[in-house]
Amino acid sequence: MNIQGIEYTELVERFGTPLYVYDGDVLLRTLSALSGALHPALEAFFSLKSNPNISVFATLLEGGARAEVSSLVELRTALLAGAEARDIIFLGPGKSDDELAACLEAGVYAIVAESFDEVDRIDRLAGERGVRQRVLLRINPAFTVRGSRLTMGGRPLQFGIDEALVLAAGDLSSRWRNAEPAGIHVYMGTRILDPDIIGRNTRYILDLADRVAAATGIPLEAVDIGGGLGVAYFDGEEDLDEKRVAECVNPLIEEFARTHPGTRLLMESGRFLTARAGVYVVSVRYVKESMGKWFAVADGGSNHHMAAVGIGSYTKRNFPVALLNRPHDDGAPRPWTITGPLCTPNDTLLKGAVLPPLREGDLLGIARSGAYGPSASPGRFLSHGFPAEVLVRDGAAHLVRSRDLPDDLLRQQHLYARTPAPTSTRDEG
Ligand SMILES: Cc1ncc(COP(=O)(O)O)c(C=O)c1O
Repeated sequence: MNIQGIEYTELVERFGTPLYVYDGDVLLRTLSALSGALHPALEAFFSLKSNPNISVFATLLEGGARAEVSSLVELRTALLAGAEARDIIFLGPGKSDDELAACLEAGVYAIVAESFDEVDRIDRLAGERGVRQRVLLRINPAFTVRGSRLTMGGRPLQFGIDEALVLAAGDLSSRWRNAEPAGIHVYMGTRILDPDIIGRNTRYILDLADRVAAATGIPLEAVDIGGGLGVAYFDGEEDLDEKRVAECVNPLIEEFARTHPGTRLLMESGRFLTARAGVYVVSVRYVKESMGKWFAVADGGSNHHMAAVGIGSYTKRNFPVALLNRPHDDGAPRPWTITGPLCTPNDTLLKGAVLPPLREGDLLGIARSGAYGPSASPGRFLSHGFPAEVLVRDGAAHLVRSRDLPDDLLRQQHLYARTPAPTSTRDEG
């Protein structure tokens, strides 16, 4: 099998395994299909958390994506890739002073504040620097989304300020000197596969923006409607069709843009843009039978692809898999359990995946793995470190992250020098 005409075997010869391979053309096609379908007033912000690789973001930037970042390194990644500060927003609970200071220095478009406490902090830090900073209030809506695989609103949460608290807060337009609340942000949940739900969320959020503006007096310079657009991973799931999303969302955006000229409308998307562009490639190290079941033990597993093993919000179902290094033509397929190198039964990438007889050196590609792969996985477990990442663009493969080498992992550790225990000065006599 190949990617843009390059055989996976060739990529593995050059870069080794385990390996993440991203298809840059798929990244751009996915972004352009989404932006092309959605109302032009809606700006697509790429959530770097789904894939923080600088070259992945640089590719999306080329296609017109803005940046939604949640850490100092993500912010620096976005800036280094060439994003304009006016197209960067920073969100996330627990922002450090260093992160907030970096936002102020860069002049990011907005910091999304997750609590009133945080607005106070931004106000103080901005005051110390003699600058003003636009802030979007993240709101925890009094509305729970159905159909999201992980809801992030409508219940007690560390994210955002409860809708009721914002609506009861009184005038917020002049509460702070240097922090300027200038709109709202709502993120309802992730992995949504039903366009009607995205429409319903959007309707609620746009209406909430008006209610917040009326209750607090803050201007609506920007409204971030979140996103959470999903992709199909498992049997029985269907990819979200961007055209259907557009049918549900565009009329609402059209009306809001007409009645609020000058308000920036933002959508955040991570998984939808990157998941389908990534393949996680592992090599089979050992093949064995245990109590009637066949196992292929590979050189990578949940340490790099926690999502595929069903930890967290995922049910234990199989991501799509393909044998990459040879045709499926030697022997009858049978169910295989594909595991990684960790000392835990949870390190099972696939269960009962029907594949031809496997042997040492076979290459397996777990598809749809471009989101929340290495960045959300426990890569240091057993000190294996993180895999290399390769981006294929215009038929050429580029190493975009080096693999962690043993020396890299050892370099950051320090063997402490034991000081001899002090000799007793107590009078023994
Ligand atoms: C606030 C916020 N925005 C954006 C995202 C990205 O979500 P997704 O990858 O589902 O698009 C997340 C993911 O958890 C999030 O919490």
